[in-house]
Amino acid sequence: MVELYWLQGAVPETTKPSPEMPPWKETAVVGKRVPRVDGYDRVSGSAVYPRDILLPDMLHAAILRCPHAHAKVKKIDVSAAEKMPGVRAILTAQSPGADIPWFPRRDKPSTSIFDQHLRCEGDEVAAVAADTLLQAQDALKAIKVQYEELPFVLSVEEALKEGAPVLHEGGNRVAPPAVYERGDLKKGLSEADAVVERTYTTACEIHVPMEVHGSVAKWDGNRLTVWDSTQGVFAVHETVAEALKIPMANVRVIGHYMGGGFGSKLECGKYTIIAALLAKVTARPVKLFLTREETFTMTGNRPPNKMSVRLGAKKDGTLTAIEFLSTGTGGAYPASATTSFMATDLYLCPNVKSSDENVFTNAGRARPFRAPGFPQCAWALEQAMDELAARLGMDPVELRLKNIPKTSQRRGNQPYTSTGLADCLREGAKAFGWNEARARKKPDGPVKKGFGVAASLWGYAGGPPSTVIVKLFSDGSVNLNMGAADIGTGTKTFMSMIVSEELGVPLEKIQIEHADTGTTQYTAPSGGSKTVPSDGPAARAAAWEVKKKLLALAAEEMKLPVEELMLSGAEIVSTKDSTKKLAVKAVKGLERQQVLVGVGTRGPNPEGKIVTPFAVHFAEVEVDERTGEVRVTRLVAAQDSGRPMNRLTYDCQVFGGLVMGIGLARTEERVLDRQTGKMVNANWHDYKIPTALDVPVDQKVVAVDPGDTECNATGAKGIGEPATIATAAAIANAVADAVGVRVVDSPITPIRMSQLFRERQKKG
Ligand code: MOS
Repeated sequence: MVELYWLQGAVPETTKPSPEMPPWKETAVVGKRVPRVDGYDRVSGSAVYPRDILLPDMLHAAILRCPHAHAKVKKIDVSAAEKMPGVRAILTAQSPGADIPWFPRRDKPSTSIFDQHLRCEGDEVAAVAADTLLQAQDALKAIKVQYEELPFVLSVEEALKEGAPVLHEGGNRVAPPAVYERGDLKKGLSEADAVVERTYTTACEIHVPMEVHGSVAKWDGNRLTVWDSTQGVFAVHETVAEALKIPMANVRVIGHYMGGGFGSKLECGKYTIIAALLAKVTARPVKLFLTREETFTMTGNRPPNKMSVRLGAKKDGTLTAIEFLSTGTGGAYPASATTSFMATDLYLCPNVKSSDENVFTNAGRARPFRAPGFPQCAWALEQAMDELAARLGMDPVELRLKNIPKTSQRRGNQPYTSTGLADCLREGAKAFGWNEARARKKPDGPVKKGFGVAASLWGYAGGPPSTVIVKLFSDGSVNLNMGAADIGTGTKTFMSMIVSEELGVPLEKIQIEHADTGTTQYTAPSGGSKTVPSDGPAARAAAWEVKKKLLALAAEEMKLPVEELMLSGAEIVSTKDSTKKLAVKAVKGLERQQVLVGVGTRGPNPEGKIVTPFAVHFAEVEVDERTGEVRVTRLVAAQDSGRPMNRLTYDCQVFGGLVMGIGLARTEERVLDRQTGKMVNANWHDYKIPTALDVPVDQKVVAVDPGDTECNATGAKGIGEPATIATAAAIANAVADAVGVRVVDSPITPIRMSQLFRERQKKG
């Protein structure tokens, strides 16, 4: 199977297991609703985002990009541009040091940073650094490029036709289709009392983070500092060092704040390398942030998918066969994702076949996008499950409850440490009022109400390596040192809460040092819903070690056995005689040492078991049969992500996930012009992300906590992506419930609905 590279990184042998920490029982801080520790900084404008960085003598850079969907650079002339006012440096493929392979580490086939073969609109041709941004942008216009335009392909079908234009040596298939099989699909289908079969598609979506992508680069001799809007400073660190062929020790990447990424900022961009090169040749700091339009075309997308699904089941709903065949295109450069994964693992089924195929097309390259492959999979699988339920005359919730797995069938039947899928179905249905809603008679007017459900899992829940350092100072204040970026999800807050839980230190006494490769320790990028389950246990381990050291010092001074002591708020108390106590500040050993340091690492995951979050979403919609307009009027999300660390940011994550799901279901679609191959809606006006008017006020989050004591030392399994996987499918199912027609292609636009109504009318 094709693995998702940013989900890898579980290297247990490089980390030592964290100290023995019993699961929390009652908690004082963890699990409560705590506003973000940096909330005021974020809303007041005092938080400095990478986009805000201003350095003395700083230059501004801009990139010249290919205006064609497919072309070659024949000739490039920068002589006029060089003479433009304020211009300090111009980079092209011919510039010394600019011949850098890309992507240096992970992807084949390799191209170069200013490749002369331009495979999509927006590919990098040249870059300019100037005194001001406008001067840099003016100079771009003065660069004369002679392009040889080439024929292009935009769809999977075109790309695989004989004689199609070829993007990379070796053809337009990224790899042979990745096929997975278990049991005997044919047999499973023949045993079925009902079989449904349908092809579904999802549109290409753009991440559209609030803060555009970019970097500021500054050299001090042979040391490079980069401020980057990134989900993972260590990922950028590694790529920058490798691309520039300098030691990692000479590179420092800082990412204190970032305004949204959703997977598009998990990797180092070419712009970072270009900024560093320009800073080197000009001996000045260089700021290079993309324009909003560039962010639409060149920083990734959720690739479009076509998925053919066949399901077979017995009369009682027992699944006998699942077939899931997916083709998609990650654009002009390699991008990997396994769309079929959830289809083969969410439900108990002995006979399964899946295939994932990815081809090159002349369009912007995909990047991981909040649960890569999974929302698309849910769109197809969960609509098919609804069709199957209808065919069997079964309630959709009941059908799903009939097929709950206890193991990961795709991964050697390894048992889950906890499975909240059934509880999510039951508790979600209760909170939604599912039975009552479905039983209610539909209104007679032109606006029809409908109710839908969709289930999901997310196959991963973090792991090593992650190192966190906690320091307790003699005045009782604490420094929390972590490598993780806070990508807007509240990482700083929940990590502080974990430290506060262990040390009894109030949040306002905890200062945070984070996301800086020069001063913090390695952790994987914040993505894959891994930050809570990977970094949380490391934070707990670090605080635990500090506590152990503190109690050991106190035991000596109190002349009591250390096992008898516990830390309670700002005091160390004997568990046998509560009159025997010592204030933390009065511990002489701490006074003498000034600081106690705890280093915590993330221990390995439980052997032979799988940790994964589950979720079930319920949607209520209104469909206007006169206009084809769909309104989402109510959503309930039942999430099994283990123990919530901060119930407030947990809920916020889910609300954000639901909004993104509404986007997939109803509004979002990258539109490429068939004549030119260019994106025609690369702006916030024409690319429709949901606004407040599209989002229902009535949204409820049900936290299903299975009390998982095995998954890791915090009991948390991760919430970011499970919060968005099932939403769009639940909405599509609700639409089908409302009006009896099913939109199989996302997004569900009024035009598509009207077409279906017309077809229904014709059929009578
Ligand atoms: Mo997410 S796509 O792992 O940021």
